[in-house]
Amino acid sequence: MTREKPKNLWLSRWGFILAATGSAVGLGNIWKFPYITGEYGGGAFVLMYLACIFAIGVPVMMTEIAIGRRGRGSPIDAVGRTAQENGSSPLWKGIGLMSMAAGFLILCFYVVVAGWAFAYTLKMLDGSLAASSVDGLAQVFEAHNANPWQLGGWSVLVTLLTLWIVAKGVQAGIERAVSWMMPGLAVMLLILVGYAFTSGGFDQGFAFLFSFDTSKLTGEALLTALGHAFFTLSLAAGAIMTYGSYLPDGQSIARTTFVVAIADTCVALLAGLAIFPIIFANGMDPSAGPGLIFMSLPLAFQQMPFGTAFGVLFFAMVSLAAMTSAISMIEATVAYLNEKHGISRLKAAMAAGAVLLVISMLAMLSFNLMAGWTPMGKNFFDWLDYLTSRWMMPLGGIFTVIFAGYALRSEIMRDELDLPPLGYALWLFMVRYVCPVLITMVFLHALGWLGF
Ligand code: PHE
Ligand code: NA
Repeated sequence: MTREKPKNLWLSRWGFILAATGSAVGLGNIWKFPYITGEYGGGAFVLMYLACIFAIGVPVMMTEIAIGRRGRGSPIDAVGRTAQENGSSPLWKGIGLMSMAAGFLILCFYVVVAGWAFAYTLKMLDGSLAASSVDGLAQVFEAHNANPWQLGGWSVLVTLLTLWIVAKGVQAGIERAVSWMMPGLAVMLLILVGYAFTSGGFDQGFAFLFSFDTSKLTGEALLTALGHAFFTLSLAAGAIMTYGSYLPDGQSIARTTFVVAIADTCVALLAGLAIFPIIFANGMDPSAGPGLIFMSLPLAFQQMPFGTAFGVLFFAMVSLAAMTSAISMIEATVAYLNEKHGISRLKAAMAAGAVLLVISMLAMLSFNLMAGWTPMGKNFFDWLDYLTSRWMMPLGGIFTVIFAGYALRSEIMRDELDLPPLGYALWLFMVRYVCPVLITMVFLHALGWLGF
């Protein structure tokens, strides 16, 4: 049978790597990784996280890129065409549908957190973070969230910027944006790491991240590490598969996957190395939770030489990293509407944006007007996070590896991955045994059926 022709391809050899790294590197690395590492006590968690990235994240990412390129389309079509080529049931398309939905729903709360980063860049500049204690900064954070217009305004700005870039197309929008945003991000990060190194406390930060305490190797920490591996590498959320559908034939999937995974890991570790020294140098608690960067860092920055300038740089960097991730979350939906229903990308972005704004509005209102609406103890924002990270992404991941490892005849992935025999055997072993078993453990644990 004749294979689908690509409608879009990355223009430069770096296009895919920059866009996929942009997708991966985001709030997950700079905001979430440091605070969960802090909560789980450092080194042991970092080790489990690294194991999950390489044992599960890397094989799943390779599989997603391969299916995207094989099917040459947005996730529903990419999986559908690959299943069709194999003579399998069209029901496998459900993987594509769920991934696309996951990316969409993640974006609905991601724009709220990204909005915080944008707002804090400005707050750092205009002196509104000049509180003298962490409690004072917690009040600033709460006051910001209590005002729906302020909170909503920033989220809507992030949403519109994201849609605007995606509407312009794969090459003129996404590829052009990431080709200056990613180098900018790298420079900002290196400056901040250098600053953190000279600010004292570095030894403590390093020891915290890399010293190994076996008492902290718990099941709960392992499961959190696994969930975070999915989130941080943008897996089972439509993003990587759609970007993979624009990857020219002949570019090595394994090599690009390693570059993205290593870059993502380095940014997370560098963010940790930049943030923990500041925390320790100022005698703060690393397990402060999600508020870690918004409530304690501004205080630390104020007490340091040139702190305001570096504080602005820090939040600007977080904002930029969030943008390159946000565009990847909506691309699957825009590509789907565009390819499948022949709607222009601009109209597709506007249609997706309308729905997105309504759902993200509810996420934003859960910090103020709807704060009292907490079915089963979670507000709407928490529900979005919980449903996507705890269920949709791992479910998408397990179905993806079962599809590739068991349902597809071996030529398809062998051909697409184009690995030496030992590499292929290793990939197959991972997707057949290691990934399904470990991901199943997450579910059993989440259901309370596995008590470790
Ligand atoms: N990987 C992104 C981050 O670390 C989040 C993301 C999830 C992006 C899913 C795309 C899809 O912030
Ligand atoms: Na990430």
